[in-house]
Amino acid sequence: MRLSKITTTFLAIVTLSLSTGAAVASEGAALKHEHFSFEGVFGTYDKAAAQRGFQIYQESCSNCHAMKLVAIRSLGEAGGPFYEEEHPNANDNPVIKAIAAMFTVTDGPDAEGDMFERPAKPFDHFPSPFANEQAARASNGGALPPDFSSLLAAREHGPQYIYSLLTSYEDEAPEGIELRDGMNYNPVFTGGQIGMPPPLFDDLVEYSDGTPATVEQMAHDVVTFMAWASDPKMEERKRMGWMVMIYLFIFALLMYGSYKAVWRDVEH
Ligand code: HEC
Repeated sequence: MRLSKITTTFLAIVTLSLSTGAAVASEGAALKHEHFSFEGVFGTYDKAAAQRGFQIYQESCSNCHAMKLVAIRSLGEAGGPFYEEEHPNANDNPVIKAIAAMFTVTDGPDAEGDMFERPAKPFDHFPSPFANEQAARASNGGALPPDFSSLLAAREHGPQYIYSLLTSYEDEAPEGIELRDGMNYNPVFTGGQIGMPPPLFDDLVEYSDGTPATVEQMAHDVVTFMAWASDPKMEERKRMGWMVMIYLFIFALLMYGSYKAVWRDVEH
């Protein structure tokens, strides 16, 4: 009697969890299974992909999305897409200086009390494309482009979700779905209607390394870049984790050896 009660409860729990799983899945279309170099315990960022991804961010996404928490110089710090061993201090890296000079930041106030604009420096953070939230919404039909700093980490299955979102726009909504004004049809986005127009189309950029700029390639690259931006210390952390494991393993061997040595001549 008791046992059957336990079995019933167990079955009820399993059924419940399966059905909620299905409900979550039905909210948006299934995600694509794109593989990324930074996944898994040994994963690292593919530097070439992250560099190309930065180009996509700079030429497209940064027109609408800010990245307030990321300093430009961090692109050139250890683990960053433009890190160079001969420039351990990113401020001296000519690539980082050139990248900083592409952005304009507001500084001030000056001696007269006025704000002024100047080319960004490596220590500046990525500037916001809009002066404030109201201006951002006004330019985007009421929708707010979220800040990129930790966007990928904030979304469930972030890399696959953003990759799928960027590659799943459809020109027309299926019959029965009425698109609201200024909305675009994207089955991956909850509700199917998104305020962001398709940001990628084939040959949007010309990659300096000759990689063909297809929508899929650009989506893969910009996701790699966003993954780095939301977790710039990942490689360092994984390396540290392995060092600790190796240390503990050697320590365990030593302890075992000394245990054997200490008790060698004792009857037990
Ligand atoms: C023309 C402005 C514009 C550009 C350019 C743009 N976005 Fe967006 N993006 C938006 C807006 C607006 C939203 C909010 C959409 C909404 O809430 O309906 C958004 C939302 C997003 C989201 C969040 C979706 C979610 O789950 O909430 C992601 C991810 C994203 N954009 C990625 C990108 C990437 C990557 C690029 C560059 C390749 C890019 N965007 C370029 C305007 C833009």
